[in-house]
Formats: sequence, structure tokens, C-alpha cells
Amino acid sequence: MDTIVITGASSGIGLETARILTNHGFNVLGIARCEAKCNRAKERILSENPDAKITFFVADLMQQREVVRVAEEITFYLDKNCNGKLYALINNAGCVRSWYMTTDEGYEQQFALNHLAGFLLTYKLLPALKKAQGRVIITGSKSHKGIKVRWDDVMLCHRYNPLIAYKQSKLCNILFAKGLNDRYAAAGIRAYVVDPGLVNTDIGNKETGGLVNFIWALRKRHGVPPAVPAKTYAFLCMQKPMPEGLYYYLCKEKKYSGQVTSENANRLFELSERLCDIRYEEVEMV
Ligand SMILES: NC(=O)c1ccc[n+]([C@@H]2O[C@H](COP(=O)([O-])OP(=O)(O)OC[C@H]3O[C@@H](n4cnc5c(N)ncnc54)[C@H](OP(=O)(O)O)[C@@H]3O)[C@@H](O)[C@H]2O)c1
Repeated sequence: MDTIVITGASSGIGLETARILTNHGFNVLGIARCEAKCNRAKERILSENPDAKITFFVADLMQQREVVRVAEEITFYLDKNCNGKLYALINNAGCVRSWYMTTDEGYEQQFALNHLAGFLLTYKLLPALKKAQGRVIITGSKSHKGIKVRWDDVMLCHRYNPLIAYKQSKLCNILFAKGLNDRYAAAGIRAYVVDPGLVNTDIGNKETGGLVNFIWALRKRHGVPPAVPAKTYAFLCMQKPMPEGLYYYLCKEKKYSGQVTSENANRLFELSERLCDIRYEEVEMV
């Protein structure tokens, strides 16, 4: 049975994707920050499918030490139960903020969770992904379009705009996937980004206030249910041979921003390595 890790699997798109993938017979390892919500998510999946293989790990992925800890727990699990192989990693956990807020490491929270957490978790799980010639799928967004990375102030400390910070974190998702493909496609690993569309979840009503909270409460009513984007994750997990595109919406390739170049992807890779204090191994660039 192939194993898939999904971050942010306790609600919204991640929970629905976990549900669908267990129904397709995958062994799913969910990660989320709240133990009670993880337990509820597990019960929900098992109540519909008592044979579902679903295990939850609790970690606040905004904090790098927590990413490292949970990656070690998952590696131990994979070594013990899956011959050390990870079939796919879905970096989906994400957040929206209304104000400038930082993590324990002092990093802006949207950048830290929406981009750096997945960057560090992928690095830690790369040996297991390599063993399985695995897939990395990142939840992006159409909102990545129309902006550039602020290389001189990537956390937007000087002039914070929460919407720009969110959009930039979603541009980083595609640049990271591009950087992974440039480095590891030759080793059999492929990275993809899913644009889920507008989805009716509570993302904009968690730890937000004022305008962001109010606008999201109205906007989400026009969103599709999480089951709609979940099909695209299932498609990318199950398609054989592996699809060769980068950015997918409703199971089809979609055009992405012209900012997604190898040059920008490399620049982000180097910056993120510094911020996580890691070094992805040197490989032949394809
Ligand atoms: N909804 C949309 O219209 C939309 C559109 C484009 C892209 N997206 C992207 O879709 C992804 C999933 O969002 P969603 O809409 O499904 O929202 P959601 O329902 O709030 O799901 C977010 C998930 O991430 C988890 N999470 C939040 N902070 C965390 C932390 N510090 N550590 C670990 N896990 C954490 C949440 O846990 P809790 O259950 O404890 O909150 C939840 O499981 C995000 O990357 C978002 O940017 C969403």
C-alpha cells in the first residue's frame, strides 16, 4: 500500500483530500496543529470507511523545530512500516493573516507556514521520496499572479500588506515546485502545484480580524466544496506515468505567472535554504 503525507489534513481541502485518497486505498499520514481536530478528522474518515488507513501527527508547522520533529517521527514510521518509502507529499497547510505576525523564529507567519514549512518538510522527507520516486504536490492559488517576489524584503517587514504577503507566499509555492523539478526530475521526483479555485473553507476566519474576516465570510459562500479540488490531488497522485506539467486546476494544466522562471526559482531556493539553515544536496540541474 502506498503512503501519502498531507499537511493541514484536519479541515478544508486537506481533510477532503485525505478522505478521497484513503477511499482510493492509500495509507494517509495527516499532519495538523490541533490534536482534538486531528482526532475528529480521523473519526470522520473512519465513520465513512472503517477500513481507511489514516494516522495523524500533531505539529505546529509554522515553527521550524516542529517541522523537524514531525519529519523525524514520520521517517521513523516510514522506515518501520513502509520500507522507508514515501509515495507522495502534499504540502497543503496554509493560513491567512490580517496583521504582521511572526513565528518563534521571527518569520512572517504566512511566508513561514505557506512556503518555508513545506520547503523544510520536503527537504527532511526527500530520502523517503527518492526511494519511491515520489511526487510532491503543493497547494497554490490563482492569486500568485500579478506580483513579483520582494527580494529585498521578503517578509514585507517594512510595509506590510497581508494580501500581498499571501499572494507572494503562493508565488513561492510554484517557484519551489519549479526548483524541485529543475533539481530532481532526473532522479524521478516530480513536483506539482494545485490551484484549488475558490473553496468554501474557514481559512480566512482563523486568527484573522476586521476586514479580512468579514470579506472571507462573504466570499467563501461562493466557493466550491473541498471535494472539487480534492479530485485534482487524487488525479496527480494516481496518474501513471507521472504527469509532466507544473500547475493544475480541475485536473488540467493551467498557465501560470511569467515570474516562474528557473532564475527566480534558484534565488528562492537559496534564500529559503538560508532561512531554514539547510542545504539541499547538489544535483545535476536538468
Ligand atoms: N479556500 C480557498 O479558497 C483556497 C484557495 C486557494 C488556495 N487555498 C490554499 O489551500 C490550502 C488549504 O486551505 P483551506 O482553504 O483548506 O483552509 P483550512 O480549512 O483552514 O485548512 C488549513 C489546514 O492547515 C492547518 N494549519 C493551519 N495552521 C497550521 C499550523 N501552524 N501547523 C499545522 N497545520 C496548520 C489547519 O489546521 P486547523 O484545522 O487546526 O485550522 C487546516 O488543517 C492553503 O494552503 C490555502 O492557501 C485555499
